[in-house]
Amino acid sequence: MGDEPLLRVRNLSVEYHGADSADTAVRAVSDVSFDVHPGESIALIGESGCGKTTLALALLQLLPKLGRIPEGTVEFRTRDGEMVDLLALSDSRMRQFRWSEIAMVFQGAMNSFNPVLRIWDQMVDTVRAHEPRASTRSIRERSEHVLREVELDPARVLKAYPHELSGGMRQRVLIAMALLLEPQLLLLDEPTTALDILTQRRIVDLIYELHGRLDFAMIFVSHDLAVAAELASRVATMYGGEMVEVGDVREIFYRPQHPYTKKLIGAVPTVTEDRDPSQEARTDG
Ligand SMILES: Nc1ncnc2c1ncn2[C@@H]1O[C@H](COP(=O)(O)OP(=O)(O)OP(=O)(O)O)[C@@H](O)[C@H]1O
Ligand SMILES: [Mg+2]
Repeated sequence: MGDEPLLRVRNLSVEYHGADSADTAVRAVSDVSFDVHPGESIALIGESGCGKTTLALALLQLLPKLGRIPEGTVEFRTRDGEMVDLLALSDSRMRQFRWSEIAMVFQGAMNSFNPVLRIWDQMVDTVRAHEPRASTRSIRERSEHVLREVELDPARVLKAYPHELSGGMRQRVLIAMALLLEPQLLLLDEPTTALDILTQRRIVDLIYELHGRLDFAMIFVSHDLAVAAELASRVATMYGGEMVEVGDVREIFYRPQHPYTKKLIGAVPTVTEDRDPSQEARTDG
């Protein structure tokens, strides 16, 4: 892990403006600052609507039309060691950045696919958007490689349409596609929601294994504190658009400082079975 952060976010705010007038803005992310170091894994937790997805979309400049960034900076260190201000990049430069430097697995797997294209064609599109001259053969080899990484049979999956695959398989394909261009940072927005519990377990194990073996940092959005504790070295809690607490995973789970983090953890007895953080917090003062 380097000393220099890979991603440096400072005072980032995001607003959604009303379609009719600009003064009905809702602040979905408010004054958020944090760093991500190379290879690090951060869990972003917090209740529904607290701004997790909005923050992830803002980092990639993928906010919906009515989303604005009134203030803040998002700097990212490229492979060449250059610190780039993502918010100042042109659209075309940002498109180069997505997938190759930062890739995202979105909430809701089905929406991320083009339903009328076979998986193979989606792989081709993804690679060619970045490397227009990539040969079919090299794309084939790389696609097969990433599909094997996520324990799928390339022969079967590449010729399938998205609807022909199970939810768990689709989620694996999305993870494979995210790895296709070997990004430095992977954003995963609730990659296991909407899957049955056993499939969830397998995807979490897979992400754990890939993160241990491959060289990427990740920001992992989850409602599930047990999953966050397993996958992350640091945890960031969001509440009402603010990042109210960031810290080492053990610190956060055993000594949560913010009342909202305490409440979240108190609601999941299994995570803290051997110690009761609410008791501890009380004796600590
Ligand atoms: N396209 C949009 N237009 C207007 N407001 C939006 C839009 N998307 C999100 N919001 C608002 O921004 C806030 C943050 O939403 P966001 O989806 O980022 O939360 P989240 O933490 O990802 O929630 P969840 O856990 O349910 O996915 C919410 O108040 C939401 O209503
Ligand atoms: Mg969300």
